Amino acid sequence: ATKSLSVMDIRARKGGVPLVCLTAYTTPIARIVDKECDLVLVGDSVGMVLHGLPSTLPVTLDMMIMHGKAVARGLEHALMVVDLPFGSYEQGPQQAFASAARIMAETGAAAVKLEGGRRIAGTIRFLVEHGIPVLAHVGMTPQSVNAYGGYRVQGKGESADEIHADARAVADAGAFAVVLEKMPAGLADRITADLAIPTIAIGGSAGCDGQILVIDDILGLFDDFKPNFVKRYAHLAKDAATAVAAYADDVRNRSFPEDEHVIRDN
Ligand code: KIV
Ligand code: NA
Repeated sequence: ATKSLSVMDIRARKGGVPLVCLTAYTTPIARIVDKECDLVLVGDSVGMVLHGLPSTLPVTLDMMIMHGKAVARGLEHALMVVDLPFGSYEQGPQQAFASAARIMAETGAAAVKLEGGRRIAGTIRFLVEHGIPVLAHVGMTPQSVNAYGGYRVQGKGESADEIHADARAVADAGAFAVVLEKMPAGLADRITADLAIPTIAIGGSAGCDGQILVIDDILGLFDDFKPNFVKRYAHLAKDAATAVAAYADDVRNRSFPEDEHVIRDN
């Protein structure tokens, strides 16, 4: 078996071949993405993508742990990171440590991700000092959707300096890498040039140290809406609808099951 990547391996990829990252929520998809990915994120996007929730806010620690266990069973190579869900870390370092320790102990994740910049830097430092590697996440952070009033681009115009300061703060606090979400490409490039840790973009720029997308988005499986930074590489929701319609036709006109699908008592 190939040795699985560590946070040090990811950290060392700064300025090198871009890091390939995707989300996964289940064992069969984890097996597929593991063949190509450096880092696999069990994102709290699972709430919207698999559970039909209206945002990531209702996602619980128990949900993250259940999906984390499922993904871990499918990975041999990629580094697994699990999101800390909304409400499981914002009260401070103690709460964040308790939540992250449960995730790591119960799923085998090598690191956790949490959202926020300067306001959460003290918590990141505490986790890192106590043996919990942290992937940071700045820019448009979906758990703050109610504060933003929508999933708006962050860091336009003068607010670019705010996002840059957030990125610098999480790097200084000891994060091994940082996700940059939904910001102008020029800002993502500026942050990438400034930080000593890898930047992983979702709605960033091609100059970042890695890219991440939601697996159901690239497969065309989640097609409620498509953010502009998503590229679809397949149309599985359409293919699935076609397959289901063909099955329904076969059942109604008794052309399924065929001979090979029935049991003979011979
Ligand atoms: O939950 C998620 O999918 C994320 C992203 C960075 C893709 O946080
Ligand atoms: Na997330």
